[in-house]
Amino acid sequence: MNIRIFDTPHEAGVYAAALAEHIIKNRPKPVLGLATGATPIHFYQALVRLHQYGLDLSRVTTINLDEYIGLGPSHEQSYSYFMQKHLFDHTNILPDHIHLPNGIATNLEMECNRYDGIIQKNPIHFQLLGIGVNGHIGFNEPDDLLQSKTHVVRLQLETVKSNARFFNQIEEVPKKAITLGVQAILQSEQIVLMAFGPEKANIVAKSVLGNVRTDVPASILQLHKQVTVVLDRESAKQL
Ligand code: GLP
Repeated sequence: MNIRIFDTPHEAGVYAAALAEHIIKNRPKPVLGLATGATPIHFYQALVRLHQYGLDLSRVTTINLDEYIGLGPSHEQSYSYFMQKHLFDHTNILPDHIHLPNGIATNLEMECNRYDGIIQKNPIHFQLLGIGVNGHIGFNEPDDLLQSKTHVVRLQLETVKSNARFFNQIEEVPKKAITLGVQAILQSEQIVLMAFGPEKANIVAKSVLGNVRTDVPASILQLHKQVTVVLDRESAKQL
């Protein structure tokens, strides 16, 4: 794993966006796998800035990692809304090229299959990841096993508690989500994992330095040959 440590999340975001820019400029049909949460906001700000300075995103296809079940795109805490607000509203990515799991699909099994079909047709060149404090990537939670395909997951209490910071009260946090499985993540050509702040230091160390374990889902990234871990000083302090 290639580990890069920056003084600030802003600088880290600029670096990660430059990695994406390289793919965007050099691929005829670049496919970006995208993440949500507080961490990637720095990446999106930098990417929007690159676009304002002329980077064309009209050839880009985006495939998001996950979505809460029960939240439609107009819900302010849905990941669809997040993406619109932080990236899509400010760039020329075409609406037809944007993919997120549909958290309000009536048949969730069909929705998971539909999503896997999209990934098969659009192999991911650049996969952006954050990391949960429990080591989850996307919403692949710590467990005895990790699921390969896109699936419905029941969120762990730790995840619900952690994500409650975005909602008015914890009861509003959805208890289930749709997430890409580990196969799609590991099949992407390049992976960029970002983590900032002291609360991520322990899980970053476990994921990067520890054994590969299904109860530390991010540790599976050690099996991939092109992973860049983009950190600030605080998240890197146990390395
Ligand atoms: C959510 C998302 C993850 C993200 C994690 C960490 O649970 N499903 O993809 O990595 O939050 O979020 P943050 O960056 O806000 O710490």
